[in-house]
Amino acid sequence: MTRTLLLTGAAGGMGRACARLFGATHDLVLTDVAAAPLESFAQDLTNEGYSVRQARAGDLGDASLLAPLVADLGTDGPVTLVHTAGLSPAMGDWKTILTVNLVATVKLLDAVEPVLTPGSVAVVIASTAGHMLPQSPDWLQILDSPLDPDLTEKLTPIVEGMAQGATEYLPGIGYSLSKQAVLRLVEQRARSWGQRRARIVSISPGLILTPMGRKELAETQGAAQMMDAAPVGRGGRAIDIALAAQFLASEQAAFISGTDLRVDGGSVAGLRFAGATNPS
Ligand SMILES: NC(=O)c1ccc[n+]([C@@H]2O[C@H](COP(=O)([O-])OP(=O)(O)OC[C@H]3O[C@@H](n4cnc5c(N)ncnc54)[C@H](O)[C@@H]3O)[C@@H](O)[C@H]2O)c1
Repeated sequence: MTRTLLLTGAAGGMGRACARLFGATHDLVLTDVAAAPLESFAQDLTNEGYSVRQARAGDLGDASLLAPLVADLGTDGPVTLVHTAGLSPAMGDWKTILTVNLVATVKLLDAVEPVLTPGSVAVVIASTAGHMLPQSPDWLQILDSPLDPDLTEKLTPIVEGMAQGATEYLPGIGYSLSKQAVLRLVEQRARSWGQRRARIVSISPGLILTPMGRKELAETQGAAQMMDAAPVGRGGRAIDIALAAQFLASEQAAFISGTDLRVDGGSVAGLRFAGATNPS
């Protein structure tokens, strides 16, 4: 039986690569806030012979989008969710970034969970930024209640304290916090997904040369640092992420759940051990 893929951020760089790769074996339910690019991409896919069951434009943070999206999945078997939608530091203020990257992710998982059947799997795109930020109970206990209406208010003194008056750092701090929380969310949900015989995993991309990655390279310093630190010696391609997602969603990854895969060309390792020599 053909499986169905719910793909968020479908009009984005990673989304497009995932649609084409997964589309070889899945019916596609596509969603993105960018309505016109989504519609034209869905039309291209259909013209190329892919099975696009639905292309539904909307903001993932909008509760009225989620119920129809889940209904689009149907009830005829296990589902695959690949969640790529998100904002980077150059794309918004820290509160908006946190709301899209974390709060909308929680709402999406909450919406999908009632229809999970055995064999279902979610691949959530996090970021190496979540690994580079040290963990602190100061913010983790706040991030553990992501649907608290006072979430950003409670985080404000922490975020502003970390920025130490440098307001240009606020979006990056919000981004790192959001992605660290997503990494933790995937670990937290693994038990309840397992009870449904379903798996949930995350991928942390390094610098990937998508529209988002190129914007970060043009407008921030951290992105170039991340790319230059990659021991493999190049920036990532969207297909690198799609191939990792395909593996994690496959039966070959049946024993992998509640964990993260860094697909970063080794950037995190390179940054952590910059200047170190090999022990002999
Ligand atoms: N590109 C990189 O270097 C990089 C690195 C680490 C992590 N990531 C993460 O990978 C994911 C995908 O990034 P990408 O490079 O494909 O970016 P992209 O900007 O090319 O695509 C992201 C898509 O998400 C959509 N989107 C944004 N906000 C939305 C919302 N509220 N509701 C619905 N859709 C929304 C956008 O319209 C866009 O099409 C993101 O979560 C990003 O944080 C990217």
